[in-house]
Amino acid sequence: MFAFARGSPLSFGVRNTQSQDQKVQNEYYIASDPLAFSQWVEQMCHLSDNQILHICQGPDTDSYDLYDMSLSKIQVKLEQNSLSDQFVNKGSFAHFMLKEINEQPRAILDTLAHVMSLIDQRKESLDQFFNKARETQLNLIACGTSYHACLVAKYFFEKYARISTTAELASEFLYRSPVLKGNYCFVSQSGETRDTIAAHDMVSNQYQTMAIVNVPTSQLARKANIVLTTQAGPEIGVASTKAFTSQLVVYLALCMSQISDAQTKNSFKQQLTIAATTVGEYLQFHTTEIQQLAQHLSKYKSMTYLGRGASFPIALEGALKLKEICYIHAEGYAAGELKHGPIALIDEQMPVVVFVSEENLEKIMSNVQEVLARNGKCIVVLNSACRELFDESYSSKASRINSQMESPILDQLQKLSFLVTPKVGEVGDLFFQSVVLQMLAYYTALELGVDVDQPRNLAKCVTVE
Ligand code: AGP
Repeated sequence: MFAFARGSPLSFGVRNTQSQDQKVQNEYYIASDPLAFSQWVEQMCHLSDNQILHICQGPDTDSYDLYDMSLSKIQVKLEQNSLSDQFVNKGSFAHFMLKEINEQPRAILDTLAHVMSLIDQRKESLDQFFNKARETQLNLIACGTSYHACLVAKYFFEKYARISTTAELASEFLYRSPVLKGNYCFVSQSGETRDTIAAHDMVSNQYQTMAIVNVPTSQLARKANIVLTTQAGPEIGVASTKAFTSQLVVYLALCMSQISDAQTKNSFKQQLTIAATTVGEYLQFHTTEIQQLAQHLSKYKSMTYLGRGASFPIALEGALKLKEICYIHAEGYAAGELKHGPIALIDEQMPVVVFVSEENLEKIMSNVQEVLARNGKCIVVLNSACRELFDESYSSKASRINSQMESPILDQLQKLSFLVTPKVGEVGDLFFQSVVLQMLAYYTALELGVDVDQPRNLAKCVTVE
C-alpha cells in the first residue's frame, strides 16, 4: 500500500501484534487524524508534504519505508502514542460533545496556567510581535467557531490594549486581494483547516505569524513563527466546545499581557481565574433548567441570537451550534442591527436568545422589549447583577408580559425566560454565556434525536477548500 501526503494531513500508526505462531506481525493504520486510530497503536508519526509511505506486507514480508519525491529513502521517526485513552473515549457521558462541554473547567484552567507561563517565558518575542502589531495592525484569521474567538479577541485588543485589530474569515481573506500589513495570528483547533493554512501560507513569507492551535503536531503549529497551544485535549465531537473557550483564554491572556493599566490588567486576571474555577459549578447546577428550555426550543423551525459588544460573537456562535447539531435555522445578529431588517422576522414562532453584557444592559434590554412587543419569545442570558437591575427597571412590565415567568415547567415556551449566570465581569461572563449556548444546542439536539457527535454533512476537520 502507498500513502502520499500533499496539502492535507496524513498520520501513520503502528501496532505490534503477535500471531499464534509467535511471529511478530505489525498492524498499520493511516488516517487524516491520529485520533481515528490512537486507541490501537503504540507508535505514530505525521507525514510531511510530498512524502510517500510504502507499506509492504505479505506471508514473508512485513516492512514500511518512507521516500521523498525523488524516491530517496527518509528515516521514519515514530513517536510513542501520547494520546491518552481517557480523551478518546466517552467515559460515562452519552456523547463526546457532552463530555467536552463538561471538560471545560479543566481545559480553561490548564490553558490559563499554560499560557500565563508562556507569556512569562516568551515575553520578549511576544512583546516584539505585539509592538509591531501596535505600530500597524493585528490581523486575526480563522474559520467557523475559531473565527468567533477572533471576533471576541478583536473587541478586547482594541478596547483595552488599544491595538488596531481585524478579525477575518480565512476563506474570504484568501480571495479578496487584501492590503497586507501588520502581524498575523491564525487560530485553529485542528491546526489542519485548509483555508486557514492557505491564508497562513499567503502571508508567512513577508510577515510574522502566530498560531493558536489545540493540536501541537498540526501543520499550522509546524509552520507559524510563534505557536501557542490551547490545553483543551483532543476534541472529538464535531461541534467545537472546549476548544472555543480555551481559545478565548489564550486570547484574553495575551490581551492582558498588552494592557498597560495595572488595575485593568489585574481585573482581567482575576476574572479569568474566577471563570476558570466556577464554570464547573455552573455546569453542575444549571443543566435541568437548560434542558427544560431545550424541550421547547426543539419545536421551533427558526431562532435568532442577539448580543452586543463581545457578546455579539457569542450570539454568532450560539446560532452556529444550533444549525450544526440541531438542524434548526438560526441567525446571530448584533442586537443594534435588529431594527435594520431582522425585526421583520420576529413573531411567536421565532424564539430569540439574548446575551446580555453589563456594559450595555440598557440598550440590549430595549432590544428585548422590541422583540416582546412583536410577540416574540425571549430567552435572556444575563449575570445575576443584570438580573437584579432588570427587575428594578422592568419588573412591572415583565410581569405583565409574562405572569408565570418564574415557573420553569410549562407546556410551551414563555414569552420571557431568564438564564442567570454568576456575575464575574466583562471578561469572565463570556465563559458562562459560551457554556449556556453549548448546552442549549446540545440538549435541543438530544430532544430532536440528532447524532450530536457526527451531525450530517459535517467533518471535524475541513481539509478541503
Ligand atoms: C465548530 O463547531 C465547527 N465544527 C467548525 O466551525 C470549526 O470551528 C471550523 O471548521 C474551524 O475548525 P478549526 O478550528 O479546526 O480550524
